[in-house]
Amino acid sequence: MSKQKVESILSQLDSSPTPRHLVAYLTAKLLQANFVDYSNQEIQNSQSGFIARAGSLVAWKNGKQTSKNGFRIVGAHTDSPGLRIKPNPDGRRFGFNTLQVEIYGSPLLNSWLDRDLGIAGHVVLKSGAIKLFRSVASVARISQLAVHLDREVNERGLILDKHLHLSPAWSSAQKAPSFLTWVAQQTKCTIRDIVQIDAQLFDTHNAAVVGADSSFIASGRLDNQASCWAAISALLESRSGAATQVVALFDHEEVGSESATGAAGPLLEHSLEQIAAVQGISRTGFLETLSNSSCISADNAHAVHHNYPERHDLSHGPIINQGPALKLNSNQRYATSSTSAAMFIAACSKAKVKHQVFVSRNNMPCGSTIGPITATRLGIDTVDVGVPQLSMHSAREVCGVNDLISLQLALKAYLS
Ligand code: CO
Repeated sequence: MSKQKVESILSQLDSSPTPRHLVAYLTAKLLQANFVDYSNQEIQNSQSGFIARAGSLVAWKNGKQTSKNGFRIVGAHTDSPGLRIKPNPDGRRFGFNTLQVEIYGSPLLNSWLDRDLGIAGHVVLKSGAIKLFRSVASVARISQLAVHLDREVNERGLILDKHLHLSPAWSSAQKAPSFLTWVAQQTKCTIRDIVQIDAQLFDTHNAAVVGADSSFIASGRLDNQASCWAAISALLESRSGAATQVVALFDHEEVGSESATGAAGPLLEHSLEQIAAVQGISRTGFLETLSNSSCISADNAHAVHHNYPERHDLSHGPIINQGPALKLNSNQRYATSSTSAAMFIAACSKAKVKHQVFVSRNNMPCGSTIGPITATRLGIDTVDVGVPQLSMHSAREVCGVNDLISLQLALKAYLS
């Protein structure tokens, strides 16, 4: 059972170099399970459905008494920090054909060096159609300066100029195709068909189970595609109940969530309102329904790093593979309240999995999540939780197999 789950995690990670690829992968799973696609049609009162909007996705299973029992919502984000290709990317420098990139979010920049990189994204065509693409092969590389030319690098640390030092080289031929020509080849379109390109780099190295005891998963984008996997697979496996079960996966968390499809936008609220309306719930009934609803916001947490224990509050630092972390911050950087914490603890005990608590050091500000944003927009009791991981925002991160499976079981127990 857990072997199957690990395979399904790895397959999702390898299929999803961008948020849109992730949404395409997950909606295919939902369609297989007879969820109805309402992305381009009015919502009907079917048993289950989903709305995909660009790199975001809302999926649900209708409850029998939503008005009384509310919505049970699991939220996560689909985007990860990285390097995006700029609109006029082509350059030629000292024998290399290069691409210009723009930094998205806050990646660990050094982690993108000396990796075999692919390019993935989508094009918008003249017809209005959108086509996803990804390179099969590794096509680009950002090379680090040799130690002989940067003698103090190991003492002083690596300093990268964000504008100058991150351009990948992607060919050397004098008459290599331009980026636009290459994308046209990849998408089997003509140059004239392509109106706009949205592309980013990704590490072509596949996700892998690592460790002498196979207890870790290493991959790009674990923050937060790991939680997306746990949320959607929990929804697919859950038994329908009195409450309506909802999974909301948002793009743009790494850049603040303020966008048409981000957690600060209206996507979730509008979806819930439509789901309620087709169940015959009035506007006042809907507001009442929200007050009976709850939300688990799942986003990875910092596990205690074996080489840097001083960076953690060791009595509140999650240990790898000891269970998902309940994230608390009294300044409301996390949405967790006493009652929402109790709700998550109850879900963990129903699923028979352990949990841990995470509170950051007072002199170490904690990260942001979609939890407080969702709680603020909808006024529903929300808990922030997450799988402990190391190397957050690296091109290749690591988390514990047990923690991720435990989170999935807890989410399933919460939804059911
Ligand atoms: Co995250």
